[in-house]
Amino acid sequence: MTVDLLLGLQWGDEGKGKIVDVLTSSYDIIARFQGGPNAGHTLEFEGNKHVLHTIPSGIFHSKAVNLIGNGVVIDPVIFIQEIENLAPYRINFDKKLLISKKAHLILPTHRLLDAASEAAKGKAKIGSTLKGIGPTYMDKTGRNGIRVGDIFAANWGKKYRNLTQKHLKMLKSFENSIEFNLDEMEVVFLESIKALRKFKMVDSEHYLHQAQKVGKKILAEGAQGSLLDIDFGTYPFVTSSTTTAAGACTGLGIAPNKIKDVFGIFKAYTTRVGSGPFPTELFDEDGETMGRVGNEFGATTGRSRRCGWIDLVALKYSIKINGVTQLMMMKGDVLSGFDKIKVCTSYETSQGLQDYLPYDVSDEDIKPHYEELEGWKEDLTQMTEFSQFPQNFANYIDYLEKELETPIKIVSVGPDRAQTIYR
Ligand code: GDP
Ligand code: IMO
Ligand code: MG
Repeated sequence: MTVDLLLGLQWGDEGKGKIVDVLTSSYDIIARFQGGPNAGHTLEFEGNKHVLHTIPSGIFHSKAVNLIGNGVVIDPVIFIQEIENLAPYRINFDKKLLISKKAHLILPTHRLLDAASEAAKGKAKIGSTLKGIGPTYMDKTGRNGIRVGDIFAANWGKKYRNLTQKHLKMLKSFENSIEFNLDEMEVVFLESIKALRKFKMVDSEHYLHQAQKVGKKILAEGAQGSLLDIDFGTYPFVTSSTTTAAGACTGLGIAPNKIKDVFGIFKAYTTRVGSGPFPTELFDEDGETMGRVGNEFGATTGRSRRCGWIDLVALKYSIKINGVTQLMMMKGDVLSGFDKIKVCTSYETSQGLQDYLPYDVSDEDIKPHYEELEGWKEDLTQMTEFSQFPQNFANYIDYLEKELETPIKIVSVGPDRAQTIYR
């Protein structure tokens, strides 16, 4: 078997970009399978810091081919901007970047619909990144969407105008009108479409089948996190794609029996950006410290991320849904200095103690039940081997591994590629 998956087990921003970059040297193809520019994947290496939104995180390696799969939604404006931002790295995109013809396009009016929908929800808003993700996936499943492959067809202009007209009518049905200048947005959009046509488009499922046949190693890169999954996340405060392992099958055309390892990434604590329930969220100094030391600001929107202790109820659920075979723990360095480390092991609900994620995760009904472990004071960021870890940090890892019944194979102690320790 030649396909491994890497995905986030919490509410996103676990450090997927960093680890995909670290693992890329062992793979021939890195393939993004879902989501769109709502993602922000940060990579740091050799003094560079770079955030990717649509482009897979293997792009900085000389050999690997990076594929944007059919399950991804692409905003040509953001994509071309991303390409321009990569200019200093002199990447040969002809050789190293492929786009599935079946990936769906985000139109300017999808972004407007996202904004109008959020405005209409008022306090109940999802906290969307406003990149047009929800409306684009709605058009995909509603069978109205436009795919990247369509931009080469003679009737592309007509398709674009028809869908845009439909969206404009929909926009009128919202009570709170939003301000916009579609003409201006269209100028940039149509220029970006022109630029997008120059990239290599493929029937990516065939490409991947062929690659598997000749034994190429493929790593599927997830975006967002399992708790934002459209089916298994904290609905309706989720994104609109399948962020869990099954999404790699539909988002790339890879058969389930071809998947070998599923790498599940989690932070040593928990963060969430946007609205929605978060049982272990902290509103005190501890939460503030995690946010400050962990530099917890969204890589896409710059919003501050909400912070809290690790939640084993949620992590166990994610591990099961995804069939995780190996865990990777990120940002342990951020917890240095806490006297005690808390771990949520069950939820206190009106029905008593519960150790599984309820149907409706609601902050009002759930009180996290914590176990306490001893903290450590040492700075972990310069450590290069497991044996250097302070005893209490090693105990924390052992404790989590036992509770989660899955080996923790990588521990990350800083944002840089080099700050990665294998076990
Ligand atoms: P992604 O969306 O899962 O790729 O994660 P993001 O890039 O949105 O957020 C992760 C943030 O944590 C980025 O700023 C990374 O540079 C940073 N990061 C990753 N791993 C570590 C780590 O082990 N320690 C610290 N302190 N920062 C990390
Ligand atoms: P990466 O790949 C963290 C959140 C948004 C919002 C909800 C829906 O960097 O981990 P959407 O724009 O999809 O309609 O927003 O999902 N969200 C993310 N949170 N990391 C992400 O991606 C996210 N992508 C979307 O904040 O709560
Ligand atoms: Mg991110």
